[in-house]
Amino acid sequence: MARKPLVEVDLERSPKHIAVIMDGNGRWASRRGLPRLEGHRRGYKALKNLLLAAADLNVKMITAYAFSSENWRRPADEVGGLMKLIAHAAKVELGYMKKEGVRMMASGRLHELPKPVREQFEQDIEETRNNTRIILNIAVNYGGRNEIIDAARKAAGMVAAGEITPEQIDDKLLSSFMYHPELPDPDLLIRTAGEMRVSNFLLWQTAYSELYVTDTLWPDFNKDELIKSIVSYQGRTRRFGAVVEEGSKK
Ligand code: IPE
Ligand code: IPE
Ligand code: MG
Repeated sequence: MARKPLVEVDLERSPKHIAVIMDGNGRWASRRGLPRLEGHRRGYKALKNLLLAAADLNVKMITAYAFSSENWRRPADEVGGLMKLIAHAAKVELGYMKKEGVRMMASGRLHELPKPVREQFEQDIEETRNNTRIILNIAVNYGGRNEIIDAARKAAGMVAAGEITPEQIDDKLLSSFMYHPELPDPDLLIRTAGEMRVSNFLLWQTAYSELYVTDTLWPDFNKDELIKSIVSYQGRTRRFGAVVEEGSKK
């Protein structure tokens, strides 16, 4: 018998776009005396298990932070292992994504990634581009500052070429130069493993995202945890700097 969630989610008011900082894989592993890479493997499984659950909760897209522009500072064997795992997952899950209607996207300086990752991503993105059930946007070699720098360079190039004036650089123009301007800003930003920081994730796009931090380590983050985060989100009043009457939600 399917277990009923403790609190109901209002499907009409689910966050459309959830961003998630999948943190705590290393701690999950070391608490069990396992190698850190085993934590990363379990973390990948946790993400896979959440995808369709999220779609059932009316979530339309998930941007998942898999590897930051700063994570290259980790020991070479962990970085190598992560890159191998990412390439492997992208390869073996292509069939699953096609079958289940998952559309894959990627954010980051992808051209700097090892060739097997880059090429497998290209194939996945191409072969799932017509899927509509849920979007999985994987952030790899992603840094929020780099994304803004890349956008600023484009704008500067246009100014230098005389195509626009500096005054024409505004919120809308810079937004259009981000890696995926077609994705709306995240409604909800989840961070697992308790750290109260954004670690260079989606700095531009999370200006008004609701934050949810849980002590649960990423490999343990399951559908019940996702429901908890959505219920918390649905209890918030989003103001976007304006005045909103008490009692009216969103
Ligand atoms: C998050 O888990 C995954 C990546 C950053 C690749 P961590 O590896 O950061 O896990 P902790 O923070 O050491 O527990
Ligand atoms: C953020 O986690 C990056 C990812 C989850 C991919 P980190 O573990 O790298 O962040 P810090 O170092 O604790 O800020
Ligand atoms: Mg960490």
